[in-house]
Amino acid sequence: MSAFSQKVLTWFKKHGRKDLPWQQDISPYRVWVSEIMLQQTQVSTVIPYYERFMKRFPDVKSLAKASEDQVLHLWTGLGYYARARNLHRAAKIIVTEFNNTFPDTLETLQLLPGIGRSTAGAILSISFQKPAAVLDGNVKRVLSRYLAVNNLDMLWNHAEAFVPQKNPHHYAQAMMDLGAMICTRTKPKCELCPLEKSCEASLTDRISEFPTKKSSKILPVKQTILLVLKNKTGEVLLEKRPSRGIWGGLWSLPEFVDTDAIRQKYPSLKSLKTLQSFRHTFSHYHLDITPMEGVISSKLGKMGEEQGWFDLRKPTKLGFSAPVKKILGGVLDA
Ligand code: ADE
Ligand code: SF4
Repeated sequence: MSAFSQKVLTWFKKHGRKDLPWQQDISPYRVWVSEIMLQQTQVSTVIPYYERFMKRFPDVKSLAKASEDQVLHLWTGLGYYARARNLHRAAKIIVTEFNNTFPDTLETLQLLPGIGRSTAGAILSISFQKPAAVLDGNVKRVLSRYLAVNNLDMLWNHAEAFVPQKNPHHYAQAMMDLGAMICTRTKPKCELCPLEKSCEASLTDRISEFPTKKSSKILPVKQTILLVLKNKTGEVLLEKRPSRGIWGGLWSLPEFVDTDAIRQKYPSLKSLKTLQSFRHTFSHYHLDITPMEGVISSKLGKMGEEQGWFDLRKPTKLGFSAPVKKILGGVLDA
């Protein structure tokens, strides 16, 4: 084993995290779900979502059998909803095409929607205890600083070369922990790092050069109106969004560019009230949302398949985006 991996493993024994929910009753399914949730979300946010998800879908079969709405319901507020749709699709593939058996090679794992090279490596090492490399954001930061290298191919080569044959599961978790706890994005705690004595960036005082920052682009601002349309019995019109695009597969409020468009679509609209605007930020743009509330007296024409009146006082087991959940909560409280 390399001196590098030895130091990392020794550090892990003493300081690594061992009581995270997905580190208990380890199985490929449990590790897979955790890695998908952790792809774009931090540990403290993931934990309650993970617990709920496991309670409702304890195994790949129960997930495969669920409806997309049920899966997205448990993802409400977690963001990056393609992760949930891919998880659901992959569960169905595992049950139907892989005979209910979790794949255990890098190549096969990467055939599943939502699983890339690093996530496949994490599943293989943590749940199957097979030597496989992980290079997520945390590990990338440690390695790029340690080597003073920003080239992705070189980082992958080293990530693979450093993986020990013994205890690869501890090693994978250790590298992620080092990135999350010690080699943090700002003010890394080098004095607590087992790699300090041979870390190139630390030795040459160039930590800020690694890893290369994403250009802090100014995000464009878009605007939209989300309409809370109520009927005479107080039910609200909800629409399931197409699976492509933002909030894919989630239930949402009808969206409009201006009030003229609303009045054109619903001529029988009686009142139209503007609620408090707020901003929701995606990875690529800001969305300034103005919620409006209107009451309609006459029946709508033919309703679409992915459209319906919902009584919000009764629990709805559907997926909502965080902004829509917030608007509906406010309307209910009012
Ligand atoms: N981020 C990605 N995978 C993780 C894991 N297994 N533990 C903690 N944070 C992680
Ligand atoms: Fe990161 Fe500092 Fe450790 Fe180098 S010595 S890997 S910069 S924490």
